[in-house]
Formats: sequence, structure tokens, C-alpha cells
Amino acid sequence: MKRKVTKAIFPVAGMGTRFLPATKSVPKEIMTLVDRPLIQYAIDEAREAGIKEFIFVTSRGKGALEDYFDVSPQLEQSLRKKGKMDLLAQLKATNMDSGAIAYIRQHDALGLGHAVWCARRLVANEPFAVILPDDVIAAEKPCLQQMVEAYEETGGCMVAAMEVPQEKASAYGLLDVKEDMGSIVSVKDMVEKPEPEDAPSNLAVIGRYILTPQIMRNLNRKKEGAGGEIQLTDAIAEELKAGRDVFGLRFRGQRFDCGSKAGFLQATVAFGLARPELREELSEYLEELLHMKKVAQ
Ligand code: G1P
Repeated sequence: MKRKVTKAIFPVAGMGTRFLPATKSVPKEIMTLVDRPLIQYAIDEAREAGIKEFIFVTSRGKGALEDYFDVSPQLEQSLRKKGKMDLLAQLKATNMDSGAIAYIRQHDALGLGHAVWCARRLVANEPFAVILPDDVIAAEKPCLQQMVEAYEETGGCMVAAMEVPQEKASAYGLLDVKEDMGSIVSVKDMVEKPEPEDAPSNLAVIGRYILTPQIMRNLNRKKEGAGGEIQLTDAIAEELKAGRDVFGLRFRGQRFDCGSKAGFLQATVAFGLARPELREELSEYLEELLHMKKVAQ
């Protein structure tokens, strides 16, 4: 019988150098899309997919993340006094039950595989999800929930997958497809950030995974991969070599690469336009900008 997926790992130890100087004092995951930090989108998605235990793999300087998920009695009291019940409700949505959230420190930046491995004792012998908060996915049904539903049918390991432009494929983990069943593909092999001439396809791994506990044992070997780092992709590929199943799910939804400035700005505009209270003002402004650009040309 397949075990239910109730634990998720959030690798948040990265230094966020692409967003310096902002990330000098603010963890990247606290940067906001409209009015919610990136990490809130990841947590909400996990909750909706039935996750009950949230494991953060952090590093020095990420204290703001821990505070964010803590209660804030003073602020709550002041909002209650002023009768600002809607704000109070929004604030409460960020509180986590005691014991639902755990923080593990990754002491060396040895790669995504190593970050996930740091959580091995908390995961123990259960399947688990991994969410990379940089990949923000706007979807009617949250991406991880789509994956949990597909995993209930397939078992094995599952990664979120999406076709990316050929010229960008080398920035991703890529799938070599065994059988394409439409939204689900079964995987023959996977490679992390190959040279363009070695890319098996342009079907890329996006930052959502459902993994078997065997992955932690594969990561125990601490094998270095692309960029000299311990890669999660390699640990999943080992499952294929051992004859076990790995699937990719072409999820329904729009993915934003919030690890890049352009992606972050696009997400800001898209999430802003999706907010009824902002839509009109923002779209008027965008139209104005486009008009000015046309006139200038
Ligand atoms: C990580 C993974 C890669 C995946 C990507 C998705 O890479 O290692 O396989 O395709 O996330 O965003 P990163 O972007 O952290 O270098």
C-alpha cells in the first residue's frame, strides 16, 4: 500500500546572491510577491496537498523565516483592539501549529541533494515531498496536489515537469522519456544541467518532487555531480538504474522562475493582475506604459 505524503522539505539555505544587495539582510524566501513572501505560496500549496509536517533546511542569516511563521501576540492584540479583523485573519493564516514546522541547518552549501539529505532523520522511512520556493506555480488546482493525485495512481518517485525553450534547457534537470502518456511520462533517465549537445529533451524538472525514502539512502553516498554539487537529480536517476519507477507530471498551471529577476517581476505583475483590488489600476498603468513605448518608437 502506498503511504500518504504528509511531510515536505523546503530547501531554503541558499544565499540568494542573484538578489543582492536585497538578500544581504533579507532571506530571498521572504521577498514578497504583492504582499506575501515567496515561502507563503509554497507553504499554502503544501497544505492544500495534505502536508502536515514542514521541514525547512536553512542556514545562517535565515532568522526572519523562523519569525515569520511564529505567532506575533503584540501585533495580533493591537489589530484586535482596533477591530481590524480581516487583517487579523490574514495574519493568523501565517501561524503554524506547534511542532508542525522543523528547522534543520545545512552547514555546507554542497548542493540541493545535500540540503534534502540534511532532513533524512525527520523524514525517516516515509515518502516525502520537496518544494523549491523559487518555483512559484499559479494553478487552479495546486501543483503539488496534482502530483499527489497522480502519485496515488503510479507510486514510485514523481517530479513536476514542463517543456522549456531549447536554449534554456541546460539550466535544468532534464528527463529522458521512456513512455509519454500525455500528462504523465515514465522516465528512462534524467540528467542535471547537461551541455546543450547532451540534452536528452527539453522536458525539464520543475521544483516539486514526491520521493521515496530510498532517495535519502542514495544521497548517503554523497556523490558529486554537475557543478561539483550533490544533485537531487542524480539520486533520483539512481532509482532508474536500480529498476524502480520515476514519473514526470506535466502539471496544469503557470510557473514563474522567481530565482531570476525577470521571473520575479513577471510573477509580481501576474499575481498583481489576479488581485481584484489591484487589477484595474495596474492594468491601466501597464497599458499606459505600452502606449508610451509605441509612441516612442
Ligand atoms: C534545481 C534542480 C533542477 C531543476 C530546477 C528547477 O536547480 O537541481 O534539476 O530543474 O531546480 O527550478 P537550480 O535552479 O536550483 O539550480
